[in-house]
Amino acid sequence: MASVPNQFSVEREKFKQCLQSDSVENARRALLYPLFQKLFKEKFKIENDAAGADVYIVGQLIVESKTEFKQWLDGLFQALHYHRKAGLAFHTIMVVAKEFVGIWKVNKLPEEAIKLSYKADVQKAASEVGKLLAKECSRELRVAIHESAFYWLEPKYLQGDIFGGARNLTTESFEILKILKNLDSDRFQINTHNFIHTIERMKAFFPTPIEAVHAFYTIVAFWDITSTVTINEEETEVTVTGFKGKKHSTAIPIHRNKIQDFIRFVETQYIFTNEGSGLTADYYFIRFDEVLAAIDAAYVKQHGIFFTNGNLSKYALWFAKNEVKEDLNENYIVFDPAAGSGNLVSSWRGKLKHKIVSELQPDLLRIIERRMKADPWHVEHGFTIVPRTASNEGLNFLDIDAATYLDRLEGEVKRNNILMDKPLAFLMNPPYKNTDENVTAREATNSEYSIHPSIL
Ligand SMILES: C[S@@+](CC[C@H](N)C(=O)[O-])C[C@H]1O[C@@H](n2cnc3c(N)ncnc32)[C@H](O)[C@@H]1O
Repeated sequence: MASVPNQFSVEREKFKQCLQSDSVENARRALLYPLFQKLFKEKFKIENDAAGADVYIVGQLIVESKTEFKQWLDGLFQALHYHRKAGLAFHTIMVVAKEFVGIWKVNKLPEEAIKLSYKADVQKAASEVGKLLAKECSRELRVAIHESAFYWLEPKYLQGDIFGGARNLTTESFEILKILKNLDSDRFQINTHNFIHTIERMKAFFPTPIEAVHAFYTIVAFWDITSTVTINEEETEVTVTGFKGKKHSTAIPIHRNKIQDFIRFVETQYIFTNEGSGLTADYYFIRFDEVLAAIDAAYVKQHGIFFTNGNLSKYALWFAKNEVKEDLNENYIVFDPAAGSGNLVSSWRGKLKHKIVSELQPDLLRIIERRMKADPWHVEHGFTIVPRTASNEGLNFLDIDAATYLDRLEGEVKRNNILMDKPLAFLMNPPYKNTDENVTAREATNSEYSIHPSIL
């Protein structure tokens, strides 16, 4: 995988220019061809060999190039007409225009779209048919065709800055390359733009929203284009295996009646990660706060959760490194006793030997553990989660005295053969405890505890 971006860098760059180019269809083709030529070699056909289609990959793909985004539907119907008129065989259609790429699996297109394409006069030129059918297509069908796309990039996605969620053409060109390299894979992409919606859909498989969140974060690092689902003998748990059978998730409890739907859900999709642009599974964890707020707003409210946003975490660490003159990496064990989403503690990547992470809410602790286990840096440098997540408990760092607390930490850290031979450096965004609320509100959020007098 790591060699892919370099192998195709020249052709991918041309393809990117093709998507930026203002020139008309013909002029753009010179930028379009090289990527397909290199990927598909002798299967790559154009002009007469492609019955007039812009690019034709026998048995797999047809590509139509248009000048502007608004012609996308013309392009799609034009492509379908090549099948009828010239017998071209393909399972995937790609339409390309300025700042636009749409990719469809023919078998996932709405039936009405196929029916409409069969209404056209087979003798007519494909470009003419494309325009005619796009005009004839109802608004509903147009929307349905758009929604059935396997991949969709339109000009407005590229506007704004990338920190505000805008996509950029470099990342997208890597993604398109990945789809083209896996053309026979019939899967929908879950990416930075739609993953929260995916978790929303996963709620249907589990009794509570937080379980859907857990399920997503259990499988996110194993859910790629090759992923399959296995079921235990009792049919009470599922596991996701990815990376061509090489890595698998831990088990997720699920009701027997939901297993088939869950399998279809996982095996028709995959999570977008992109080594070329540095987007790893950790990205999905960084946005955990948004996920919880969207999927289980009640949970966030109940527990009074205020996560530390990813950028704020990075800023805080930069600040700490500048202000604290001592070498924290060498002389301390870094410890976050209230780790929340794990953003703050995960951002610390010095030459640390070991990190300790704790939290009051066991749900959060489980997700942090998965996050760190999915991250090669953390696996290599070592970390201890206190208490161990199997116990499904959190740890309160305010209601016991320091000696008892340190004892608990030491006990757990020993499991990893780590000696607590250095002082702890507390790295945290502390809990904001509102003692003006009434007791029942505090009980509901596990915050009805007394702070140990020795701490006060
Ligand atoms: C301000 S948030 C910290 C967020 C975290 N730094 C992050 O990166 O998302 C405070 C966290 O402290 C936890 N917490 C509250 N009271 C606690 C206690 N007594 N002991 C341990 N953790 C506690 C909350 O569950 C919450 O996740």
